[in-house]
Amino acid sequence: MTKIIKGLVLITGTTSGVGLNTLKPLLRYGWEVLAVNRSSKRAIKIAQQSLTDSEMQNIHFIEINLSDLEDVRNGCSEILKKFKNPINSIICNAAVYKPRLSKPERSPQGFENTMAVNHFGHFLLINLLLENLLSSEKEIVLRGKITKFKPRITILGTVTANYSELGGRIPIPAPADLGDLSGFKNGFLSPISMASGKKFKPGKAYKDSKLCNMITVQELSKRYSKEKIVINSLYPGCVADTNLFRDTPWLFRFLFPIFQKFITKGYVSQRLAGERVAQVASLKEYAKSGVHWSWGNRQKSGRKAFSQKLSKRIIDSNISKRTYELTKKLVQLD
Ligand SMILES: NC(=O)c1ccc[n+]([C@@H]2O[C@H](COP(=O)([O-])OP(=O)(O)OC[C@H]3O[C@@H](n4cnc5c(N)ncnc54)[C@H](OP(=O)(O)O)[C@@H]3O)[C@@H](O)[C@H]2O)c1
Repeated sequence: MTKIIKGLVLITGTTSGVGLNTLKPLLRYGWEVLAVNRSSKRAIKIAQQSLTDSEMQNIHFIEINLSDLEDVRNGCSEILKKFKNPINSIICNAAVYKPRLSKPERSPQGFENTMAVNHFGHFLLINLLLENLLSSEKEIVLRGKITKFKPRITILGTVTANYSELGGRIPIPAPADLGDLSGFKNGFLSPISMASGKKFKPGKAYKDSKLCNMITVQELSKRYSKEKIVINSLYPGCVADTNLFRDTPWLFRFLFPIFQKFITKGYVSQRLAGERVAQVASLKEYAKSGVHWSWGNRQKSGRKAFSQKLSKRIIDSNISKRTYELTKKLVQLD
């Protein structure tokens, strides 16, 4: 007889915004949650404010600073030692956005930090946990039912990294574009700060890192058979009032949510965004690999998710293969 167990889901960045609001729906579905943050003490304190004591008992907190590849390595070893059951689902949610930097911040390994946190940290984490993920239980209890569950990876993408959408063509500071990848090819260390090797543009550094996240999804789903694993990305909508915008000017922080609510109608609450992430990481409806899920850029209640058309910069197999291989070298996976 098959042993039926609770599924284990890992999520990065649960101290605020989308990640914090994904915890409740994940717990409601019946997951045991592994919350990865750079400060567990802070993450626990924040989670306690919205979760009950019995919900808290189903969350384990692990400390990883995604900016530091050594820390990612140590944290993943700790996870592999600590948890008896393999992880069924990984959600790469954490991110930084620092559009006002005049010069790049550097990660402990010397990489431009936005790319280090958003792309390199997650890329390494996924690769170090992949074997464990692929060995996970095929039957778990989800929403009170025994469910056949394929191992799953969900990465938060964004509209501004997708040149096929209007939001992806905004020229300020410039659309996401990895160019000829010479920045990666030449080691991505100072004075290099952009994947393209061109001049540092802090806002574009965020878009480029999210483009790399979305490319990773496409390349991974090609490399791993669709029967074995589901790898997808999503754009939950414009969650215009999260801490992601903490480094933007105060006037922008004040006006941006208003603009998104009443002009573009792209605004999504943190709660709804969290529900969407939990759905994509858990439900059968989203068990299709290589899909970028979206609910559109003008939010309407009751709207269903659809597979968003992606730009050539994301799906081109030469670009995705080269980005993947160069990233592997930079995070020293070779
Ligand atoms: N907000 C939007 O409109 C929007 C739209 C599309 C996609 N997204 C994506 O949604 C995801 C969540 O964004 P959000 O808006 O919820 O932002 P947020 O509120 O700023 O949350 C970001 C999370 O990432 C964590 N984090 C940052 N640096 C880290 C590091 N070095 N190591 C580990 N964790 C780190 C933060 O933890 P600390 O408290 O320690 O900083 C926080 O928990 C991101 O991937 C973003 O690109 C957001």
